[in-house]
Amino acid sequence: MPGPSSRSRVCNVLVIGSGAAGLRAAIAATEAGSQVLVVGKRDRLDAHTVLAAGGINAVLGTRDPQDSWEQHFADTFREGYFLGHPRVVEIMAREAPDAVRELADWGCQFARLDDGRLDQRYFGAHKYRRTCYAGDYTGRAILYTLAGKAQQLGIPVVEDQYISRLLVADGVCFGAYGFDLVSGERTVFEADAVVLAAGGHTRLWRRSSSRRDENYGEGMFLALEAGCRLMDMELVQFHPTGMVMPEEVAGTLVTEAVRGEGGHLYNKDHERFMTRYDPVRMELSARDRVALAIYTEIIEGRGGPNGGVFLDISHRPKDEILEKLPRMYRQFIEYQMLDISRQPMEVAPTAHYSMGGISVDPETHATDVVGLYAAGECTSGLHGANRLGGNSLAETVIFGRRAGAAAAAHSRESEVQRRSKKAVHDAEEELQSLIKPGSELARPLQRALRNLMWEHCGVVRDEARMRDGLRKLGELATAAETVDIHPGQEGWVELEHVLDLRAGLRTAEATLRCALERRESRGAHNRSDFPALDPALERNFYTRVEGADQPLTVWSEPVPAIPASLKRLLTDEEMEVAGRLLE
Ligand code: FUM
Repeated sequence: MPGPSSRSRVCNVLVIGSGAAGLRAAIAATEAGSQVLVVGKRDRLDAHTVLAAGGINAVLGTRDPQDSWEQHFADTFREGYFLGHPRVVEIMAREAPDAVRELADWGCQFARLDDGRLDQRYFGAHKYRRTCYAGDYTGRAILYTLAGKAQQLGIPVVEDQYISRLLVADGVCFGAYGFDLVSGERTVFEADAVVLAAGGHTRLWRRSSSRRDENYGEGMFLALEAGCRLMDMELVQFHPTGMVMPEEVAGTLVTEAVRGEGGHLYNKDHERFMTRYDPVRMELSARDRVALAIYTEIIEGRGGPNGGVFLDISHRPKDEILEKLPRMYRQFIEYQMLDISRQPMEVAPTAHYSMGGISVDPETHATDVVGLYAAGECTSGLHGANRLGGNSLAETVIFGRRAGAAAAAHSRESEVQRRSKKAVHDAEEELQSLIKPGSELARPLQRALRNLMWEHCGVVRDEARMRDGLRKLGELATAAETVDIHPGQEGWVELEHVLDLRAGLRTAEATLRCALERRESRGAHNRSDFPALDPALERNFYTRVEGADQPLTVWSEPVPAIPASLKRLLTDEEMEVAGRLLE
């Protein structure tokens, strides 16, 4: 292992994460005159955004001219069960059209109609068609576009970097400390401002649409340790349709676009069971409802041979499937030798998206720590208790841009560059202290953690199981203290695993503690011991670290009041739906 801090790199704005939110932040900060550096764990064209499939929402009115940003606001806010921050939802709905047009201008290969306008498809629980797409590779198309723009602007992206700690002194963030996953070389990244765009925490569940070694809540953990609050950590979206086999890819996303393009769900008796759960919207009901419906069919014994239900698109023409769902077609051929233009897929819910995360200012996405901003899935405030498909890609570019611009403004206005030798020394010491012989390996502990979260904090939860989960989490945390890490080639990978484990244990604790406190069922948070929605809990749950080795504290605050100007956007009809939701 090299000695402490073998080098340092200095910039105005450091962006942690090279996915869509990070790159959009970097572009905005660069255009505002900052010197920017982006660090990412993976290759620059392989950030987790590539997995986003079905689309990005923006009211363009291509197919449904009667659509409006106000309707997009109303759909998002209502379907989030009134836990989203009204201003965050408003910004997203208002700014999405320009954000999508900008991506198209920068060369993003969105699908178009013959007349050249951007096509739009249905996604669940949207009143109108407003989801722009590039087949079912939309995330990849957006990431490549942003990477191209960043390259044009000369923004350096350093790959294979694992950030182990944010550097903070006197409540001010001045950079981050990390190491190279290939060479092990350590770097002190010094900056006036930092943007965290490091993804969510849904790899903590056994069935997950996230890839290996990503989305262990690394960004949320860094923010917590730096002194930030997390909000709504219990609100985790289970996507209704993940693959069920083979085991090594179980959980992999089966895009909602399959249902958007007309796919039907059946149980083993060939019943289109959504007629019993949401006869109006059927397969295009909200994700929380479709996920719970599928879960119920499976638990009550109406599932298929591999523990899922059936999703069938084979009634659509094959050339249309190949054009609109090319990834799905290939995915099922590759893993199951199954031709989805002829046979149904077997699917089941999979942990998909962190709707909670770092608490941020609605306008700038500034966190509680001066100089630290956040964007994308690691943040909270937009989705409430149930995210609408396609809103997350919109979130990445809209709030990535805002966070990057705000970080650049902070840098410009900073008269002194905060530095602290002690903070750097502590980060070095901390990383070094993890490299020691021990009796455990990180991988099996990660697996145990994923099983724990699936079994104790899954689609349906209850107090007894969650308390037991917290107890087992304590045992895992103790075991994690004795993980064996040796210097050398294996050492860097093992070090990554142990740091992912450390982040995962803390964010799992945050999730369990908040989920215990939310004593109701709302959106994706289903409590079998509190099956009704409690109108008094139109509140956000927050958590933070009060002291080293202390359990996280949890409290709740009311959702900020919806201003009258926005309340009027919820029509009588919507208020009536809202009333039904709140019954
Ligand atoms: O199903 C999907 O394609 C996922 C989209 C999303 O989560 O926004």
